[in-house]
Amino acid sequence: MTARDGKPTLAVVGATGAVGAVMLQILSQHADIWGEIRLIASPRSAGRKLAVRGEEVEVVALDEEALSGVDVAMFDVPDEIARQWAPVAAAKGAVVVDNSGAFRMDPDVPLVVPEVNPHAARVRPRGIIATPNCTTLSMIVTLGALHAEFGLRELFVSSYQAVSGAGRAGIDALRQQLSLVAGTELGTSPGDLRRAVGDDTGPFPEPVALNVVPWAGSLREDGWSSEEMKVRDESRKILGLPELPVAVTCVRVPVVTAHSLTVHARFEGEVTVDRAREIIATAPGVVLFDNPAAGEFPTPADVVGTDPTWVGRVRRALDDPTALELFVCGDNLRKGAALNTTQVAESVARDFGAS
Ligand SMILES: NC(=O)c1ccc[n+]([C@@H]2O[C@H](COP(=O)([O-])OP(=O)(O)OC[C@H]3O[C@@H](n4cnc5c(N)ncnc54)[C@H](OP(=O)(O)O)[C@@H]3O)[C@@H](O)[C@H]2O)c1
Repeated sequence: MTARDGKPTLAVVGATGAVGAVMLQILSQHADIWGEIRLIASPRSAGRKLAVRGEEVEVVALDEEALSGVDVAMFDVPDEIARQWAPVAAAKGAVVVDNSGAFRMDPDVPLVVPEVNPHAARVRPRGIIATPNCTTLSMIVTLGALHAEFGLRELFVSSYQAVSGAGRAGIDALRQQLSLVAGTELGTSPGDLRRAVGDDTGPFPEPVALNVVPWAGSLREDGWSSEEMKVRDESRKILGLPELPVAVTCVRVPVVTAHSLTVHARFEGEVTVDRAREIIATAPGVVLFDNPAAGEFPTPADVVGTDPTWVGRVRRALDDPTALELFVCGDNLRKGAALNTTQVAESVARDFGAS
């Protein structure tokens, strides 16, 4: 450890992004276990000042020097930047906790959710630990708890994903589109939204204001999207169920932050709603909010800015006593990204302290 003041040095690579901004808030709220916190972004942002732990810190450009003397590096940058620079940070002695999709399916890189598979973080032959995609993270803590008791056998998921899952560009696109449609009668005849918004729909293939878009990511084999394949592959890896049947449909909705998912999960044997509710209510990092008679179910508007995964609409499948239906909602920038990464980085720092 190259610690200053006996505390490890942390680099936040991508400090100026949508996830990075939440990361800095979380670092300011959590117990202060770090020595220096170094803020790193592209050369475009070098010299900007950002607040963390109540202090203004100058952003530096990502290069070899910026990664020198770092003990733990949290990467919140596009895949291609992580692919290039995470191994550089690891070679310089840092433990990298990477939030991008660059290494998640690498067999030599653990994919870690502290509430589900914390032990996996200790075996990291490349010096890199990956954290899952925001959509996977929005449901996996709940599923991990149910799997531990009931044994998961099959999973069907539909997502209702917030635009901030596509970073600052996604938020900007929704805000811009909302400014064009507010107070109009758009959305009442075919193609009128598309004409009003024009060709620049931001990171989405269709307008997302007053609309839903059944697409996230890029095209994969047989018509699946990359986001759908991530949820399938990552869930299997985290739960240690490489053959788990998983079918996912990812849909973008006009919500700024907090992903929602409907989940149909089939288990080894018969399940009861009462036991499922007990498991959900006592699982770390999960809140049961489920009383439709009183109008209580999670929505993104209630959940945004909070840490846990919120679960409601818990029902047993009508035609299958071994299956449950759930509605799950979580802040994609907190547990879906910055919080999970911080939790992993903090556990690595605690191990430094123990060694
Ligand atoms: N948004 C989510 O819900 C979410 C959830 C889980 C995982 N992730 C992943 O987390 C990563 C960051 O996502 P985001 O949503 O925060 O994206 P974002 O808002 O677009 O921010 C991207 C960050 O990467 C930096 N960056 C871009 N090019 C760079 C370069 N050449 N060198 C150094 N830094 C560079 C940017 O710095 P500048 O400001 O200087 O351009 C910015 O800090 C992505 O891999 C994403 O897939 C996102």
